[in-house]
Amino acid sequence: MFILNANDKAPLYRQLYNQIREQVLSGKLPAHAKLPSVRDLATELETSRNTVEGAYQELFAEGYIYSRQRSGYFVSAIDQPVAPVSRLTAARKPHRPSASEPIFRFDFHPARLDPAGFPLAQWRSCLLETLRESPAELSHYGGFQGDGELRCNIQRYLERSRGVMCDPERIFVCAGLQQSLDLVAHLLREGHSTLAVENPGYHLSRAVFQNNGFEVVPVEVGPGGMDLEALRASRSGIAYVTPSHQMPLGQVMPIANRLNLIEWAQSGGNVIIEDDYDSELRYHGKPIPSLQGLRPDADIIYLGTFSKVFSPALRLSYMVLPNSLLAGFHALYRDYFPTVSLLEQKAMARFMAEGHWDRHIRRMRIVYQKKHDTMLKAIEQHFGARATVIGAGAGLHMVLELRESSRGESAIISEAAACGTYLFPFSATCAGGAPDTTRLMLGFGGMTAADIGEGIRLLAEVCLNVEEKCPREQGQK
Ligand SMILES: Cc1ncc(COP(=O)(O)O)c(C=O)c1O
Repeated sequence: MFILNANDKAPLYRQLYNQIREQVLSGKLPAHAKLPSVRDLATELETSRNTVEGAYQELFAEGYIYSRQRSGYFVSAIDQPVAPVSRLTAARKPHRPSASEPIFRFDFHPARLDPAGFPLAQWRSCLLETLRESPAELSHYGGFQGDGELRCNIQRYLERSRGVMCDPERIFVCAGLQQSLDLVAHLLREGHSTLAVENPGYHLSRAVFQNNGFEVVPVEVGPGGMDLEALRASRSGIAYVTPSHQMPLGQVMPIANRLNLIEWAQSGGNVIIEDDYDSELRYHGKPIPSLQGLRPDADIIYLGTFSKVFSPALRLSYMVLPNSLLAGFHALYRDYFPTVSLLEQKAMARFMAEGHWDRHIRRMRIVYQKKHDTMLKAIEQHFGARATVIGAGAGLHMVLELRESSRGESAIISEAAACGTYLFPFSATCAGGAPDTTRLMLGFGGMTAADIGEGIRLLAEVCLNVEEKCPREQGQK
C-alpha cells in the first residue's frame, strides 16, 4: 500500500505522511477507515516503529486522522477539497522560464546592472562578520527608522558626496522608492491632494501617488528641468523631481531653477520630493550637488537608493525627511516594524564603514563609463545623423530620438523583441502616451561591450527599416 524509498531526500516518516495524506485527500482512504496499527505497518514496510509513529503523529496533529482509545487511528472526514501533496511539491519546483517568457540576448532595460559588478567577496564577508559579531541582534526586529550605524554612515556619505545636510535622526532606511513614496503619500494626504510630476518622468512615482488617491498633474520638463510656471499653474502642493539626472531625459536642473523651485516650496508651504536615484554615476565633470543641500531647512524630502550602483535585488534605499515632517512621521508610523532585513542593514553599515562602498562606486563608475562610451560610439556608427542622443554622460541609460524613422515605438519594440532584443517603452514615462517623435530608452548597465555594439547594430536595422533584419538563430538566445 505504501512505498518507502531510502534513497529519497525526504525522511522516511515524511514519505509515509505524504502518501497517507494523499490517500486521505483523494478518498482512497475513506472517512473513518481504520489505519493499520503502528507495529503492523512498521513490520509490513520493514521500517522502524518510530517512522510510522512519526507519520501518524503528524497526521493526527494536522487533523487528517483521529484516534480512539485502545482502538488505534482512523481517517477523519474532510469535506473541503485541499491541494494534494504532489501538487504542492510540484509548486515548489525551481522556476524555469517557459517558452512564453522570452529571454533576451540584448536587454536594453534602463535599470539593469552589470551582472559581474556585484562585490560578492566583500559583501559575503560583511554578512558573515555581522552574523558572527552580533548574533543577538538577529533575535529582534530592529527599529522602524533603520539601523543607527547604517543611518550614520549614510549621513556621512550623503554630506560628503551629495552635499545633503541632515543628522541621522532625519534619515529613514526603506525598501526602495515605492515604499518611501507610499509612506510619504500617507503622511502628506492630510494637507495635500495634488502632486506635480515631471513629464516625461518616472512612471512608478505617478502610480504610487495615484494609488494613494492623489490627483497627479504632469508638468513638462525641458532643459531647465520642471517648467516652474506650469508647476505654479498646476496648483499642486507637492512636486516630485529628479533634478540631478532627469528621468528619463537626463538633464541637470540649473542652479537658478533649483533656487526658484525651492522658493516655490518655501513661499507657498509646498513640498519638494527630490529623487536622487543615480547621482553616483556621472562620467564627466563633478557630481551635481543635491537640491536638499542648497536649503537643508526647506521642505525637501530627499530620496536615495543602493539599487543603481550596488543591487536592486537587495531593496535597500533611504529617505531624508525635513524637520517639519519628523513629528508627524513618527506619530503615523510609531507601531510599524522595519521592512528591510536587519542583517542586511548591518552588513551594509559595515560595508560602508570599511570603505568598500566608496571603492565600489569608483570601480562601477569606470565600468559603466566604458559601457556608456561604447554605446555612444555604436550609435554614431550605426545611426549616424539619423538619430540624436539625449541625456548622455550619466546614469545607466540614454535616450535615442529617431529622425527619419517611419516607424512608431510599438512596431520597433515588437520587431526588436522578435530579434531577441528588449526595449523598455519610452512612452511609459509620458503621462499622455507616446510622443510625436520616436524615442528609445537604451539602458547599457546589464550588457557587455560586445553585446552593446551588436545590439545597437541590430536595432539600427530594425529602426531604419533595413531589409535584412536579424538572423533569428543568432538574435534569439
Ligand atoms: C527615477 C528612479 N528613481 C528610483 C528608482 C529605483 O529606486 P529603488 O530601486 O530604490 O526602488 C529608479 C529605478 O529605475 C528610477 O528610475
